[in-house]
Amino acid sequence: PRLDEMYNTFDFETVAKNVLSPVAWAYYSSGADDEITMRENHNAFHRIWLKPRVLVNVKEVDVSTTMLGTKVDMPLYITATALAKLGHPDGEVVLTQAAAKHNIVQMIPTLASCSFDDIVDAALATQSQWLQLYVNADRQVSQKFVEHAEKRGIKGLFITVDAPQLGRREKDMRQKYDQEAPDEIERNKTEVNRNEGAARAISQFIDPSLCWDDIAWFRTITKMPILIKGVQTAEDAVLAAKAGCQGVVLSNHGGRQLDFAPSAIEILAEVMDALRAECLLDNGFEVYVDGGIRRGSDIFKAIALGATGVGIGRPALYAMSSYGVDGVDHLLTLYKNELEMVMRLMGARTLKDITRSMVDIRNIKDH
Ligand code: FNR
Repeated sequence: PRLDEMYNTFDFETVAKNVLSPVAWAYYSSGADDEITMRENHNAFHRIWLKPRVLVNVKEVDVSTTMLGTKVDMPLYITATALAKLGHPDGEVVLTQAAAKHNIVQMIPTLASCSFDDIVDAALATQSQWLQLYVNADRQVSQKFVEHAEKRGIKGLFITVDAPQLGRREKDMRQKYDQEAPDEIERNKTEVNRNEGAARAISQFIDPSLCWDDIAWFRTITKMPILIKGVQTAEDAVLAAKAGCQGVVLSNHGGRQLDFAPSAIEILAEVMDALRAECLLDNGFEVYVDGGIRRGSDIFKAIALGATGVGIGRPALYAMSSYGVDGVDHLLTLYKNELEMVMRLMGARTLKDITRSMVDIRNIKDH
């Protein structure tokens, strides 16, 4: 199909399934175990209903905002997903270029197919990028990476904490990974096991001993804001704020880690309540969510419940694999147009006008 026949974010998934190699499709699309959490991530949005306000002048709506000090054109960023070259020969750079067109942030994964420097070099001078860090058992490797990222102008360090052991993505495990290993793996001469799918091939180095003490140590080696990616309870969000982090990403890693972990949107309200109760939001602590963001209304709901912004993973990979930069550009336009439409129909002109009273969360547990 032609690109202009992609009417929503789901359309790209259908095309991607047809164009991707079996290894790539298995790696991108799989979730852990029975994939209950993966499906729940989007389905949870279906339990939240909207309470539209009318007779507001919505001729002009503005979806721009600020994330970790960066002005962006919409409250959405491209999150870190490993191995973009499985889907497109130019890899993560495709995502960099599309992010530039929309003035949004790209989070660079530790396990990028392209080298970290190539992805940074591909960005415009005005463009902001973040780094997703998998912490190496050899802390010196991680330290070097973080210091280098800071030197290259990276604006935020997102430490992934939901993967002390890799989730079992059985679809992926049935495949044999036969591609080049990510640059970071090659450089550090990490062992690559090619018998159990892409994810297991590239993640041998991740340290299961990572704990809060390490977060304190990371604070001492960098001035970049540190955020914890993969928080799944209010308790841990509070601990992150108390540990001096600048924010958290509520995420279950796209349903690829613990099956039956809650969706981010399901816990967002209680996380914000817990942080507010302890006055931990006053210093500009930011809460992001990812997982299952497929519609402009999903973004709206996340903003209403207190998120600063949302991350998208698979939709960007699918659009990249199907249509390259133009595909991701079109995908981002769809998100933006849908968000603007929802805001008009909701009577909200700016993101600040989007309040919790505009969403009905009676079907969310504990509310
Ligand atoms: C991921 N994700 C991920 N997260 C991370 O911290 N480090 C990583 O290397 C990866 N790699 C990765 C690969 C692929 C193929 C996917 C789909 C996901 C998780 C990612 O950052 C994010 O949490 C989810 O993708 C969000 O869910 P959606 O948007 O894919 O539903």
